[in-house]
Formats: sequence, structure tokens, C-alpha cells
Amino acid sequence: MNVNGWIIYNGHLSGNKFLDFAEWFHEAAQKQGIETNLYKNNDLLTYLDDRRLSLIGGNSLPDFVIFTDKDIYLARQLELLGIRVFNPANAIAISDDKIATYQVLAQHHLPIPKTIAAPKIFPGSATVELENIRSIIDQLGFPMIIKEAFGSFGEQVYLVHTEKEMMDKVREIQERPFVFQEFIAASSGKDMRLQVVGDHVVAAMTRYASNDFRANVTAGGTMEAYQPSAIERKIAVAATKAIGADFAGVDLLFGPDHTPIICEINSNAHIRNMYDCTHINAADFIIRYISETLTNEGRS
Ligand SMILES: Nc1ncnc2c1ncn2[C@@H]1O[C@H](COP(=O)(O)OP(=O)(O)O)[C@@H](O)[C@H]1O
Ligand SMILES: [Mg+2]
Repeated sequence: MNVNGWIIYNGHLSGNKFLDFAEWFHEAAQKQGIETNLYKNNDLLTYLDDRRLSLIGGNSLPDFVIFTDKDIYLARQLELLGIRVFNPANAIAISDDKIATYQVLAQHHLPIPKTIAAPKIFPGSATVELENIRSIIDQLGFPMIIKEAFGSFGEQVYLVHTEKEMMDKVREIQERPFVFQEFIAASSGKDMRLQVVGDHVVAAMTRYASNDFRANVTAGGTMEAYQPSAIERKIAVAATKAIGADFAGVDLLFGPDHTPIICEINSNAHIRNMYDCTHINAADFIIRYISETLTNEGRS
């Protein structure tokens, strides 16, 4: 297929993880005869004036971009220049922000834990005043999850057991957006990750933590390949489409009686972990999906 793409990754984060992720896509594309070039997000500058918007840096514009970063403004700039970006800038933005994600999922009537977004507090304000603290507790009960809108690896997800613990945590994180959320006790220490590409779940695994309520935070945890049920697949695909993503890693919690409940959607899921666990390379599916989509959209 005669298209060429860019793979954009974050140029500031230390370590090789993001370059590795980009190279993983590069190799998958090469196998299918698709030319791709790697760029760091900071290799490309978003230029704007009253006559044009353009990019500073980079060679002639590509047919598509695989955007593995969260630099939403750069992703939008590429879209404004007419380039098909996978995933779309808006999907990346929603996925990055857990409050925005839960709003979209609720709007689509998809199963999520009961969630209450904290009112915005401006930095430098005095201590938080929650007039409705009683109704939050009545709605969600204890133990309760408190979760920051922006976070990963479980590091910004907390479990509180009393009103005091709850308010201490609120004071600690009050300058950042966060939610109060129902704790799905049946799922404590375990969840499942489903890798969606287009209309399909191409790989899945369960994750268990032996020493933490967060399945992704553990010293002695395990990942296991998993065969999701029809309903789990359906919910994962619907969640991916709801946020407008082409592909995503969808995390599901095990609700009571094994009913799936959506925990989060990762538009930049770590497909290498999935490969290590299941020996399924989601990048191969993603590249095939991209070339089919470019054809269907009349872009190739
Ligand atoms: N409402 C919840 N009830 C039970 N466990 C939860 C809940 N929310 C999150 N968890 C646990 O915490 C982990 C991390 O939460 P998540 O929302 O996925 O944040 P992160 O983006 O940091 O991974 C999940 O994988 C799950 O094991
Ligand atoms: Mg997660």
C-alpha cells in the first residue's frame, strides 16, 4: 500500500519505553510494507498566524499519524492540516481525563462505578468546602475510591475507609481534578484488560495483585491470558467507540456476579505487556486496521 505515516512519541519522558512503543509500531508497519518515520513530539512545532497554520520541522506531511503521545495540541494541529491521526486528538484527550471518560460513558449508558466529580478548586484557595459531603458518603459508602482525573499505573488512585481519611486525601489533592467513586469490592486486586481494534477485541488478559486493591500495583502480581465473554467484548468495543477511539486498551472491573464494569480506557495502551502475556501482537492488527480505514475513508 502506497501510504506513508509518522509515528509520534514523547520526547521528554526519560527511559526507552516510549521509543520502544513507537518502534513496535514501526516494525509492524514495515512487515505490511508501510513506510513510517518516527518523530518526537518536540521535533515538531505548531505554527499559527492569521494566514496559515503549519508545522515547523518534519519532512513533507504524511498520509497518517500514529500518535502515541498525549500532546493534544500537536495532534489537533495535524488534524487541522488534514491528516488522519490514530487515535484522533479528541479521543486521546477524553481517554487521558478520567472525568471526561466517565461523562462520555455515562452518556452512552455504559456500565461504570457510581462516580461523583469533585467541584473545581482553584490553586491557592483555602481548604476545600464540601457542603455535600454527607450525600457523597450516602451515595458511595465506605470504603470509597478517590481517583485523580489524570494518572496512571494506579499511582493516583486511593482507597479511603473513613470520613477523616477521605477529607485528608481531599485536602492533599484538592488542587487537581478528581472524583469520588464507588469501590467495586468484588474486583479488589483484579481486573481485566481488553485490547480493542476497530470492532474487535484482539487480545485480553486478567491482572491480579496479591498485595493491593489496585490490579496494576503490585510486587507479586500476575497477568494471565484471558478469553473474554461476549458481553465483556461488546462493552469494551462500545466504550472504545464512545470516546471516538480507533483502538484502545479497555480495563474492566469484575462487578457482582461477574458483571463487567468499565474502569478506564487507555488510548495508548501498552501493547507490549499484552504481547508478553498473550503472544498476540496488537500492533499487527492496528496497522491492518489503519490501512483498511485509510482505504475506506478514501485517503489512499
Ligand atoms: N472503582 C473501583 N473499584 C475497585 N477497584 C478499582 C476502582 N477503580 C480503580 N480500581 C483499581 O485500581 C486500578 C487503577 O485504577 P485506574 O482507574 O485504572 O487508574 P490508572 O490509570 O492509574 O491505571 C485498577 O486497575 C483497579 O484494579
Ligand atoms: Mg488502569
